[in-house]
Amino acid sequence: MQRVLILGAGGHAQVVADILLRVHDAGTNWKPVGFLDDDSALAETVILGLPVLGSIAQLDEFDHDAVIVAIGDDRTRARIFESVRARGEQIVNAIHPAAVLAPDVRLGEGVMICAGVVVNTGTVIGDNVILNTSCTVDHHNHIGNHAHIAPGVHLGGDVTIGEGTLIGIGATVIPQRTVGAWSVIGAGSVVSKDIPAHATAVGMPARVIQTARS
Ligand SMILES: CC(C)(COP(=O)(O)OP(=O)(O)OC[C@H]1O[C@@H](n2cnc3c(N)ncnc32)[C@H](O)[C@@H]1OP(=O)(O)O)[C@@H](O)C(=O)NCCC(=O)NCCS
Repeated sequence: MQRVLILGAGGHAQVVADILLRVHDAGTNWKPVGFLDDDSALAETVILGLPVLGSIAQLDEFDHDAVIVAIGDDRTRARIFESVRARGEQIVNAIHPAAVLAPDVRLGEGVMICAGVVVNTGTVIGDNVILNTSCTVDHHNHIGNHAHIAPGVHLGGDVTIGEGTLIGIGATVIPQRTVGAWSVIGAGSVVSKDIPAHATAVGMPARVIQTARS
């Protein structure tokens, strides 16, 4: 049995825990053994049968074989992911058994894929990416490290999503478009033209309303 510590214990981390528990029950070697979270209000609580053991800074104090970073905010998730990777931690993926991935899809490390997700052939998913509930990622997409594709999003074929970018709930990106790094696409928006990096864009069609997302 390989022990996995989940970094984060909020709502997103609980979904990750649920996935890891299901995958373990289905027969994999990876077993979630607890959460670490910097919110002291969560200390010593038990969530989904797993204890909140301490803060993320205490990682070395708890026996484990691997970790997964389970924090919804892209910048915080990216920072903690890079820090645990620099320490040589093994980082696992959490892929719900009810997700459907083409056999040639390439996955990075620390990827979380929820129930109902479909990823089609030729797609490359970077490290620390979230593919949230029931999103579809069509053929030959490139999803950058630390990106978050929110629930119900549809990405057409040959779409490129930059590092750290959030595609908001229910948004659509038409085929062959690019959304630059660290941008945000508003919930329900339709991206019909390329969106630059560090932008916030909303609406149908999506228009940039802010250009220097810090
Ligand atoms: C785009 C977004 C980030 C903007 O948030 P914000 O910076 O706080 O901006 P505001 O709420 O002040 O909105 C700014 C303007 O954009 C409009 N707007 C905001 N979100 C919009 C959306 N999704 N579609 C269309 N218009 C939108 C607002 O009505 C407002 O217009 P106004 O200036 O004419 O009044 C946010 O509304 C959003 O959609 N976030 C996605 C959240 C999400 O899906 N998370 C995933 C969780 S799993």
